[in-house]
Amino acid sequence: MPDEKPVVVVHDLVVRFTVGHGRAARDIAPVDGVSFSIAPGEVLSLVGESGSGKSTLGRTLVRFHRPFSGQIQIDGQSVETIRSAGALKVLRKSTQMIFQDPFGSLNPVRTVGQHLRVVVRRHHDLNGGKLEDRIHELLERVGLIPGYDFKGKYPHELSGGQRQRVAIARALAVNPKVIVADEPISMLDVSIRADILKLLRKLQQDLRVAYLYITHDLASARYFGDRVMVMYGGQVMETGTADQVVGTPGHPYTRLLLASTAGSDVDLPIGETSIEAPNLFVGRTGCPFAHRCPAVTELCSREQPMLRALPSGQQVACHHA
Ligand SMILES: Nc1ncnc2c1ncn2[C@@H]1O[C@H](COP(=O)(O)OP(=O)(O)OP(=O)(O)O)[C@@H](O)[C@H]1O
Ligand SMILES: [Mg+2]
Repeated sequence: MPDEKPVVVVHDLVVRFTVGHGRAARDIAPVDGVSFSIAPGEVLSLVGESGSGKSTLGRTLVRFHRPFSGQIQIDGQSVETIRSAGALKVLRKSTQMIFQDPFGSLNPVRTVGQHLRVVVRRHHDLNGGKLEDRIHELLERVGLIPGYDFKGKYPHELSGGQRQRVAIARALAVNPKVIVADEPISMLDVSIRADILKLLRKLQQDLRVAYLYITHDLASARYFGDRVMVMYGGQVMETGTADQVVGTPGHPYTRLLLASTAGSDVDLPIGETSIEAPNLFVGRTGCPFAHRCPAVTELCSREQPMLRALPSGQQVACHHA
């Protein structure tokens, strides 16, 4: 897999928003110089606390946000240069997104079949029996069996897990190469979370879909991800294989995340007191985690640490790791 040409390449991506109005308006950068790639059929888990910029990054890949600077290549297409509806349609064929709230992402007055027909028709020249066969196949592929039982159902007639399966079927309808899954299990009942992750894994194996899997939770990041990328304050703090990052975390922030995971035997780093959100304002200096870091020195607030390789193999952005 590593020798294969990546299906996603992100280089030095910056996303900015203006917050506040008039004289109080200021720019924030929730994604601030992020680079990574994903191989075909690979799962990259993106982990970080609330507000670290995960969703902004994921939504920029599918071009819900326009990048401020940097490059995104998906399946050979430059995402940052997309200006036309035609180019966006090409991106929608290669890249799909699944959201946290399956109820919010489905239209309550449309049946399951109607949701899928719209997407299949938009991207493939199918109608009549062939269209219905394709919908049936999609439903069964996501475990809604028999498919014809589910076609006529409305979202409110389904369980949360079934609704998420419909959202997954809709994403699959275009045969995407990449799926951005933004906390796809966090609103579901604990008992069915593993089933949905197993389904996503099966699709990865059967169809070679690659994922950017966004989560708060290091345990599921390790379970589902081939590699894990930890983000804080819009920047990558640590990245490597799932075993490197979760097994032998190198960054104080990753250690903090791990210590707050249920059942973890990692001690909370001494000195971690503040849970203050990171400063995202454009023009900040140093490491975004410095104000919370137990290992902080004067250098950390002055100079931004660059990612560098540790002997254990992963890359860590810390002056003192
Ligand atoms: N459209 C927007 N306009 C202005 N600010 C935004 C916008 N979208 C996100 N932000 C800000 O960017 C920062 C990062 O938000 P983002 O949603 O990417 O974080 P996240 O890591 O996904 O958090 P969570 O885990 O809570 O979903 C936050 O401070 C948020 O308020
Ligand atoms: Mg989010």
